[in-house]
Amino acid sequence: MIEEKLDTLVTLVDESCPNLKNRAEFDNFKASISGPRGQLTEIMKSMGSVPKEEKPAMGKKINEAKQLIQKSFDAANNRIEEAELVSSLGAPIDPTLPSPDEAKGAIHPIAQVRDQVVDLFHRIGFSVAEGTELETEYYCFDALNIPSDHPARDMQDSYFMPESLSISNVSKKTDEQYLLRTHTSSVQIRTLLEEKPPIRIVAPGRCFRRDTPDATHSANFHQIEGLYVDKKVTLTDLKATLDYFVKQVFGASAKTRLRPSFFPFTEPSFEMDFYSPDLGKLSNKWLEIMGCGMVDPEVFKSVGLDPEEYSGFAFGMGIERIAMILQGVDDIRYYYHNDIRFLRQFSGIKQ
Ligand code: PHE
Repeated sequence: MIEEKLDTLVTLVDESCPNLKNRAEFDNFKASISGPRGQLTEIMKSMGSVPKEEKPAMGKKINEAKQLIQKSFDAANNRIEEAELVSSLGAPIDPTLPSPDEAKGAIHPIAQVRDQVVDLFHRIGFSVAEGTELETEYYCFDALNIPSDHPARDMQDSYFMPESLSISNVSKKTDEQYLLRTHTSSVQIRTLLEEKPPIRIVAPGRCFRRDTPDATHSANFHQIEGLYVDKKVTLTDLKATLDYFVKQVFGASAKTRLRPSFFPFTEPSFEMDFYSPDLGKLSNKWLEIMGCGMVDPEVFKSVGLDPEEYSGFAFGMGIERIAMILQGVDDIRYYYHNDIRFLRQFSGIKQ
């Protein structure tokens, strides 16, 4: 008897739910089934008269029926909720439609300079390479011939991660530590291990150093790395490439000079300065713009290339530094405050 009643009820709910048109109809119908005087409630009350030995089986049957009924209720509830949402919005949502508002965003001034630099190198055959911001000591230091007692490897200068950290997509040896890359030169190694010469890449990206922030230093900044490796690459190629770059960015009358310097991964190494009559307040002063040099034979050895067969040059520049010169900004921190009054000046959007 009870069993039949339950089956009939499940069928009734199953067939009625899809026809319920709105919240009020749904609520009424639900009350007529599982409310205090609802049909399911009445059936459950009659459980009292079921003989003791049949009770477990009957309990099970009731639970099954309850679950089926709940499923029908849930489906109807979801359907009605969605219809309510659509009617409150006035129309079905089409996320692929273009926004009716005029685009208000603009490219960040740092990204504008990055894109300009990348584009200039792209035109002379350099492609873009990427590494990871979280690096291992191998890519950031060892393979670049940076000895283990170098100051950059000090906890005071770099952001090291806890020894216990393990990251699935950046593999490291057990005695190494992860750190936030201190320069984009790590991308030189990643590229040299992946590709065969001739290699011509630029690698723009974010770097991290434990600098105390002041007008020209930030703990988080951006660099663009360049690397050219082939047979018979010479210092003349380096000088010509950087001359082209400087003239494009700072004006055709700009001059460059290479000053001897030191980096463990280039030999010889230089700082490149430039001087331009077209730079307003900064005109006609030598300004330091990047580190560069010929790839050190030790770097070739660490990536399995024969230094007798291959040669190359590398350079690395701070994007903020170039941006500050081009945009006349005298405090690096403006770039990170995201103050719309600052950003708008470089947006090309009418003020
Ligand atoms: N990695 C150096 C720095 O961060 C710059 C550099 C890159 C120098 C490539 C030489 C060659 O200061």
